[in-house]
Amino acid sequence: MNLIITGAKGQLGSELTLLARQAGLEVRAYSSQEWDITNPAAAPDLSDTDFLINCAAYTAVDRAEDEPEKAFAINSQAVAHLAKLCKAHDVPLIHISTDYVFDGVQKQAYQETDFPHPLSVYGASKLQGEESLRAIWDKHIILRISWVFSRFGTNFVKTILRLSKERPELKIVADQHGAPTAAAHVAQVILNLIRHPALTSNWGLYHYTDQPLTTWCDFARSFINPEQCKILPISTAEYPTKAKRPQNSALNCEKIKQVFGITQQPWQEALTEIVTP
Ligand SMILES: NC(=O)c1ccc[n+]([C@@H]2O[C@H](COP(=O)([O-])OP(=O)(O)OC[C@H]3O[C@@H](n4cnc5c(N)ncnc54)[C@H](OP(=O)(O)O)[C@@H]3O)[C@@H](O)[C@H]2O)c1
Repeated sequence: MNLIITGAKGQLGSELTLLARQAGLEVRAYSSQEWDITNPAAAPDLSDTDFLINCAAYTAVDRAEDEPEKAFAINSQAVAHLAKLCKAHDVPLIHISTDYVFDGVQKQAYQETDFPHPLSVYGASKLQGEESLRAIWDKHIILRISWVFSRFGTNFVKTILRLSKERPELKIVADQHGAPTAAAHVAQVILNLIRHPALTSNWGLYHYTDQPLTTWCDFARSFINPEQCKILPISTAEYPTKAKRPQNSALNCEKIKQVFGITQQPWQEALTEIVTP
């Protein structure tokens, strides 16, 4: 099987490239320097490609509030270019989206059928990317994930680990609920999907996150030694950020289980590998 991976130096792109090669798949992996997805002329040849997996994205949630054009160019307009390119070559497109398409007001976990209502420029740009892809090319999977961490790239886990060595205490938001999700687990989910015999009759939108649900504060407490650094809970109101974030980021993952038998993995196991010195 031949794959093309965009955004190959990001958290998910790195894990997926590694895992797919370990699984013996042929992978052409492109960093942002090698293929800027906003430039259609830079696209590689798609002949003999079985899947294009778009791991490229503008993910700076707060910065997006100041540069919406850039966020929309990468998360929406470029996705439309990719969808057209894939359609022209009859290549299925696996695209990644986010819990931030929801406003987080709902009490229960969000299903694929729930109405999205993003609170931020980032969320709105990702939602528009989903809509563009859906309108252009049927053979797609949109996989919404949440709270991604990995040994590669920058993320909450690495930031908190670093800050915990510099400060005696850290105040962390305790009223946003969601599921930390290992990029390595998402990479495995993608490989399972693209090799699944039911894929070709089940294109569409799916949610996948690890489990269990937690808060940012309790997530930090799960890997920081309290004797080294105290983790103190604060509310979202006490930690204002440029971009608004959903209070409830929980994604219901029943559909991917029913259709493909893919079950939610525990994030703790993947976390141990990253935080163990
Ligand atoms: N991180 C999260 O918590 C989270 C949560 C939910 C959903 N997601 C979604 O999951 C997917 C993977 O996220 P991630 O955490 O792996 O993100 P990431 O670590 O920020 O990686 C994104 C990659 O995309 C590349 N990129 C940016 N602009 C590009 C362009 N114009 N052309 C080509 N590549 C470009 C970046 O390269 P440069 O670094 O060189 O710019 C980076 O390597 C994204 O769709 C994201 O929206 C992420």
